[in-house]
Amino acid sequence: MTGDRNFILKGNICYSEDVHTLRMVEQGFLICQNGKSAGVFHSIPEQFQDFLLIDCGDKLIIPGLVDLHIHAPQYSFRGLSMDLELLDWLNTNTFPEEARYGDLEYAKKAYQIFAETMKKSGTTRACIFATIHGPATELLMDFMEDTGLKTMVGKVNMDRNSPDYLCEPSAQASEAETLLWLSHTREKYKNVTPILTPRFIPSCTDDLMERLGRLKRKYRLPVQSHLSENLSEIEWVKSLCPSTGCYGEAYDQFGMFGGEEKTVMAHCVYSSEQEIELMKKRGVYVAHCPQSNTNLASGIAPIRAYLNQGLKTGLGTDVAGGSSESIFRAMADAISVSKLRWRLVDSSLKPITFEEAFYLGTMGGGSFFGEAGSFLEGYEFDALILDDSSLSHPQPLNTRERLERFIYLSDDRHIAGKYVEGKRIF
Ligand code: GUN
Ligand code: FE
Repeated sequence: MTGDRNFILKGNICYSEDVHTLRMVEQGFLICQNGKSAGVFHSIPEQFQDFLLIDCGDKLIIPGLVDLHIHAPQYSFRGLSMDLELLDWLNTNTFPEEARYGDLEYAKKAYQIFAETMKKSGTTRACIFATIHGPATELLMDFMEDTGLKTMVGKVNMDRNSPDYLCEPSAQASEAETLLWLSHTREKYKNVTPILTPRFIPSCTDDLMERLGRLKRKYRLPVQSHLSENLSEIEWVKSLCPSTGCYGEAYDQFGMFGGEEKTVMAHCVYSSEQEIELMKKRGVYVAHCPQSNTNLASGIAPIRAYLNQGLKTGLGTDVAGGSSESIFRAMADAISVSKLRWRLVDSSLKPITFEEAFYLGTMGGGSFFGEAGSFLEGYEFDALILDDSSLSHPQPLNTRERLERFIYLSDDRHIAGKYVEGKRIF
């Protein structure tokens, strides 16, 4: 019965069972059977007795982290122009940098660095934006395939309100480039799948959105984009789409807002009641990006309200709006900004707890990929082994304290091992 995807990890195991419940089993046994979790036990059940036992000592074992929103081509300029708001930051930094990915030599260098970074990080699954360039996007997918992480990668669509050097010449041309990219990538990989990626409403004509909506239905593709992030952006969308009741409806009118295929929308800082209702109805995911929303002074998303209302929610780093690719950092930031919102904006919405932040960065985002982000029986076996021995402390800490401290104090040097679907990444 033993094989490379049948084994047992022994250690201090922590995982979410639901949004409020963090289960911790000290010196427990986490069973991997055919790349899936067969559960967490205090002793090894009879039927798994002959599985290879890997003793992780006193280390922590948690589910892999999920990044629902990150821009690969922006990794190169993180930490720059963080005194600008969204629309100026896009024009000053983002668009000129993304234009360079028309050059495959440049894309190769930059995407190699990005893929190596993602491999070393705590992230096991991610939704990734590339640029408008089909060939460079395929190159990024090749690199991501080799990391062993499970990712969805999107060629970006932009056919209006964009600088000449980063604007597709027509809706038809954008669709044709998308189709060509899809034909190369839809069945090419084990770990990477394409995701439709209209940048946001201001950069896509109605004609383009209609074409993308048809592709979505024909090829049953998921969708990622941006929603209700910044006040000037929202005003702009209102003027571009005067007949829609909310920003989300501007996607929904073309069938590009959840439904049969999953959609994840980044930010949702200012979503109205109407927009929230529509997201619930269509099963649209929120990618909460607290560091980006702070860096670009976008605002603070009401995540407590979204959790109360049962919206599907996970975390995103939104590199380079966010300067760190760490979902541990996103968990800590999600807690911090929820406290500021509670203190300064709305005292009826309590800050989110550590348990909830941990859920968002694992199981909350993980469900975008199916059963991922937990060790409940049947979930994909994505796991991190955490070594906090160098984060020393004069007093003994319990497992929950060690985990909480880890999300605030660790970096990738403290990640001692990583598995995706039962395969060891490092
Ligand atoms: N809205 C449209 N494009 C972008 C982008 O690249 N980053 C962020 N944060 N918001 C956007
Ligand atoms: Fe973004």
